[in-house]
Amino acid sequence: MRIYLDNAATTWPKPESVAAAMVTCLAEQTANPGRSGHQLSMAAGRVVFAAREAVANLVGLADPLAVAFTKNATEALNLALFGVLAPGDHVITSRTEHNSVLRPLKVLEERGIAVTRLPCGADATLSPDEVADAFTPRTRLVVLTHASNVVGTLNPVAEIGRVVREREALFCVDAAQTAGVAPVDMEAMGIDLLAFTGHKSLYGPQGTGGLCLGPRVPPLRPLIYGGTGSLSDSDEHPDFLPDSLEAGTVNTVGLAGLLAGIEFVESRGLARVMADGRRRIETLTEGLRALPGVQVLSPAAPYGRTPVVSFRLEGFSSSEVAWELEQRAGICCRAGLHCAPLLHRELGTFPDGAVRLSPGAFTDSGQIETTLAALAEIILAP
Ligand SMILES: Cc1ncc(COP(=O)(O)O)c(C=O)c1O
Repeated sequence: MRIYLDNAATTWPKPESVAAAMVTCLAEQTANPGRSGHQLSMAAGRVVFAAREAVANLVGLADPLAVAFTKNATEALNLALFGVLAPGDHVITSRTEHNSVLRPLKVLEERGIAVTRLPCGADATLSPDEVADAFTPRTRLVVLTHASNVVGTLNPVAEIGRVVREREALFCVDAAQTAGVAPVDMEAMGIDLLAFTGHKSLYGPQGTGGLCLGPRVPPLRPLIYGGTGSLSDSDEHPDFLPDSLEAGTVNTVGLAGLLAGIEFVESRGLARVMADGRRRIETLTEGLRALPGVQVLSPAAPYGRTPVVSFRLEGFSSSEVAWELEQRAGICCRAGLHCAPLLHRELGTFPDGAVRLSPGAFTDSGQIETTLAALAEIILAP
């Protein structure tokens, strides 16, 4: 038996339609997209464009060509940060961030970019006023996660987007934890650069993700240069989207899967996805709270939360709990620091971290009951 509660790391299983779309693509559509004029290349190009349109629709972006595909959210965030920031600039971020923001910013700091890392307190959210107060005349960018990957609380991105826009900086949002499980609307939320990943709540395969660029973003410095299939008469890299940010052959098969994943999410409907997630997290959280020795890291979430709950168990390290859960009941979850070391310091859970449970579309109530029962058993008979 296997109970998979690690959907915040990557969703599993994937819908059958995702695997089927990838098999069809491999068998029938995988010439090189955008490189040749023959039917197979055109078919591959249509798959890639349909995936671009699906992403743009999902995130409230008018122009599908402003979706640049990458291999994951990390690459998209690197593209945004290295593409926008230059020595002398100031960037505002928070201590809630994932290492995919913290680490590139550390490198950029060494190159002369000033970084303010706002403390986020026990609820892992920021107030728009705190962001406003951190502005300096040199602030070029605000980069924040939409939701904490450890405790699931959402940041008030629409309100922060307004603050950023009033001050004429750019706003980059890491939607790795929210695309597919929470509303994401670049236009309505004032987001200029949106990094997403395909393999989490969009139910696509690993190796897919991207950066969506709003109309206010100036041309970005690419991370890599090379062939794009366009302007082949020139040895200069093209300067138009998406080619400027997509050197080399894209992951056509993966994007066929991502398209099917987005269609799966849309067929369930965001309202139902959110209601299901809320119900499962409430059951898990209440069950955890009723167990002796369990400390639930579940702060109030004034702006909503994603389906994630983390906890600690007195007398056990977080990796011991995860190990016991798997040995006793086949439960897959994630222990440790979740690539968010500064947040765990804020929460007082560094260096051991916590155990994170994250249900997904295929989690049922019986699996949640089994998980709570397994924890009760670990407590009673360690
Ligand atoms: C908040 C957040 N940002 C970024 C990432 C990185 O995503 P990817 O592994 O797709 O690069 C993750 C993955 O766990 C995440 O939770």
